[in-house]
Amino acid sequence: MILVKLGGSVITDKGRYRTFDKANVERLAKEIARSKVPVMIVHGAGSFGHVLAKKYHLKDGFSDEKQLKGVSQVSLDVRDLDLRVLGALQSAGLNCVSIPPSACCLMDDGKLTSFDLEIVHHYLDLGIVPVTFGDVVLDMKKGFGICSGDQLMAWLADEFDPERIVFCTDVDGIFSSDPHLNDDASMIEEVDRSVLARLPRSERWADVTGSIYGKIESILDLAKGREAMVINGRVRGRLERALRGEAVKGSRVIGDG
Ligand code: ADP
Ligand code: IPE
Repeated sequence: MILVKLGGSVITDKGRYRTFDKANVERLAKEIARSKVPVMIVHGAGSFGHVLAKKYHLKDGFSDEKQLKGVSQVSLDVRDLDLRVLGALQSAGLNCVSIPPSACCLMDDGKLTSFDLEIVHHYLDLGIVPVTFGDVVLDMKKGFGICSGDQLMAWLADEFDPERIVFCTDVDGIFSSDPHLNDDASMIEEVDRSVLARLPRSERWADVTGSIYGKIESILDLAKGREAMVINGRVRGRLERALRGEAVKGSRVIGDG
């Protein structure tokens, strides 16, 4: 089984609230279906999550009743996004079901601590593709919090020990600096913790889950003894080739252990 994350930068326009990239999601869905490999899918929230999560300070947990409207709206928006992704996957011929983290996950002080996977196992056994996503989740310490798709990837990788782990974003891989801001940024083919420590920090869009740095942290954690790749999900054919096990342009993340 291959664990795939479709990042928010690939399925939405992260700079504009609730902008779904239908064409790109439909193409990616067809690539996954054509590859014929068994997958489990996690998707990000993009502008369906980060914009309001930032406005209502949802990552910091409960401090004010006014935030509850934000919890409710973000929860609605990410579900809306999830339904659109599921629709594209199903039209491409993949039988899939949604696993909403708000209903089956718990966090503690911002860290995912519980995700009951018995149901996910049963869907996989039936030959159905489970699809989960970055969401607003109850937090035992803070009331609520934001669970990123990257945290879910780490949890699923530990439980299911996938053959390969593929993160799709809107750039070719991990670069020496933000490739959207620096033309001379160079792609780093192999990334380990020392590379992360040297990366200059910048943020183009609201991203409450740590943008690329949070992502690299999560990947380093999950990559122990496994292969994790960051590839460009906006380039036609790259995900399909990565799923088939062919060499594609991208960064390989090497975990600590
Ligand atoms: P996603 O939403 O797809 O999970 P992110 O938005 O978290 O992905 O991360 C991808 C974005 O990170 C890119 O659009 C890029 O502009 C930005 N970025 C910042 N620094 C880097 C870097 N050193 N290498 C790659 N991307 C970077
Ligand atoms: C964020 O999930 C979830 C919310 C903001 C509700 P991710 O962190 O996985 O989303 P992307 O991939 O960065 O958009």
